[in-house]
Amino acid sequence: MATEDKNDAPADLVDPISQLPGFHETESRIAVHGHPIHAMSVAFPVALTFCVFGADALYWWTGDEFWARAALWAAGTGFLFGMLAGFSGTAEILLVPGIRKRAPAWTHFIIAVTLLALLGTNWGYRLFGYEQAVLPYGILLSALCVLVVSFTGWHGGKLVFDYRLGTSKGS
Ligand code: HEM
Repeated sequence: MATEDKNDAPADLVDPISQLPGFHETESRIAVHGHPIHAMSVAFPVALTFCVFGADALYWWTGDEFWARAALWAAGTGFLFGMLAGFSGTAEILLVPGIRKRAPAWTHFIIAVTLLALLGTNWGYRLFGYEQAVLPYGILLSALCVLVVSFTGWHGGKLVFDYRLGTSKGS
């Protein structure tokens, strides 16, 4: 039987996507000396998303206005840093052929844009009265953001550790 793939898979079982030019070029291009800027920048929105939920919970527990104001600032900076992380990720997906051609990268894009919409909503809602916003909808939105950011981060890790996308040597 004719074989074409380097793994000696029968020719009719070869994934046509893996035959596209540039499929194996997955190394990061938005990077400093091979260290991807996206991977370095995602820590900020992830941490700040957890901080908003923590500040909301402390406001609920203590009733101290300080925590509602802290939640407002964490929500705003989390959203803005999330947008920065999103720009670096989007540049990576558009510029690197082997990342652009893989479906999981686009799945991550969709989950991440959903997250950014939620982070923006959580911030914008608080701008019209940050103290009244916390209970109940602010803290509920924060809890949802924590779930979605956890999923986004886990999925981003899958791209790097399972598919080797955005690493210095690529696939
Ligand atoms: C909105 C558009 C986004 C796109 C197109 C995108 C794309 C990517 C890509 C291609 C990777 C593989 C590594 C690389 O090439 O740098 C990645 C990794 C990752 N992404 Fe995103 N991303 C986006 C937004 C986000 C956001 C908003 C977060 C979280 C707040 C996030 C969390 C992660 C994490 C945690 C990794 C793994 C980093 C590592 O372990 O080294 N991404 N993303």
